[in-house]
Amino acid sequence: MSAVSSRLPVFPWDKLEPYKATAAAHPDGIVDLSVGTPVDPVPDLIQRALVAAANSPGYPTVWGTPQLRDALTGWAGRRLGARDVAHANVLPVVGSKELVAWLPTQLGLGAGDRVAYPRLAYPTYEVGARLCGAEPVSYEDPTELDPAGLKLLWLNSPSNPTGRVLDKAELTRIVAWAREHGVLLFSDECYLELGWEAEPVSVLHPDVCGGSYEGVVAVHSLSKRSNLAGYRAAFLVGDAAVLGELLQIRKHGGMMTPAPVQAATVAALGDDTHVAEQRARYAARRTALRAALEGHGFRIEHSEASLYLWATRDEPCWETVARLAQLGVLVAPGDFYGPAGDRFVRVALTATDERVEAAVKRLG
Ligand SMILES: Cc1ncc(COP(=O)(O)O)c(C=O)c1O
Repeated sequence: MSAVSSRLPVFPWDKLEPYKATAAAHPDGIVDLSVGTPVDPVPDLIQRALVAAANSPGYPTVWGTPQLRDALTGWAGRRLGARDVAHANVLPVVGSKELVAWLPTQLGLGAGDRVAYPRLAYPTYEVGARLCGAEPVSYEDPTELDPAGLKLLWLNSPSNPTGRVLDKAELTRIVAWAREHGVLLFSDECYLELGWEAEPVSVLHPDVCGGSYEGVVAVHSLSKRSNLAGYRAAFLVGDAAVLGELLQIRKHGGMMTPAPVQAATVAALGDDTHVAEQRARYAARRTALRAALEGHGFRIEHSEASLYLWATRDEPCWETVARLAQLGVLVAPGDFYGPAGDRFVRVALTATDERVEAAVKRLG
């Protein structure tokens, strides 16, 4: 048996364990700002929708209930400004991580194909390429890539880990380049609702894609906007031919969003109030942490959106991780996201107000 896992990078979070132990030994406990996992409650209206659908004995469908598809198309029109989104343009997925990891396989990519993603990026784009035996390639500017053999191009705006936002002009230029070279473009927009000093734009906005979804798909997740990481709720919007193909494959593979989660997603996408409330929590934490980090000698780059501050003391990232662990604060080393991050750390805004206050005090 040839181990597929041998193609994959070392699971990076294991390397952080000793620093976690140091931080946990702080007398006032650890402030864990390493993983971007939501800590605030699931909004009541979403919990109620989940519970109301608890009696779901039958199999759900991969494409989702008509109500779910209506919610997805309606939200894409309302929130992204996407025009004429039909049911054929949407597809639920079981959280976006599985999609990122298995998309190249489900597209039939393999040896000889190339999959590209940003130089500093969420590690699962590379994992997806490696799982199917394609060649992973990272870029600074995707339009400088050699398009030969390039089958899938990932964008991620706002970016994890840097919080950088691609503006309309940049997105438009990249979409045009991808179309010109026949490269399928997937835009991971899971932080779109979390713009602070920039207004993130979807690749599906008519100014960007020209009102046609040909060769373009956006990935959205409810994990961050609605505190639903535990529910596994995400979806795709875009090119009907690509989504139709994925639907066939995912039906055979049984990749169904559980029925109660589908119902919860409908409720979540129909409500903007909880999104605004959650944004306000993150905005306050961001302001407090940013000031404390800057006061402690950090410089913050980008970070105009997303759930993270991308911070540096102009020293190797593991030195910064060690220094903060001594203060009981755990952050993610920038090299988890690519060698270019080796002098940065990623500081997540996903801790309770009480823990953020503790971090601010310790940095002061
Ligand atoms: C850029 C990016 N894409 C996708 C995901 C996966 O999110 P989920 O699987 O919860 O939808 C994450 C999670 O942190 C992320 O940062």
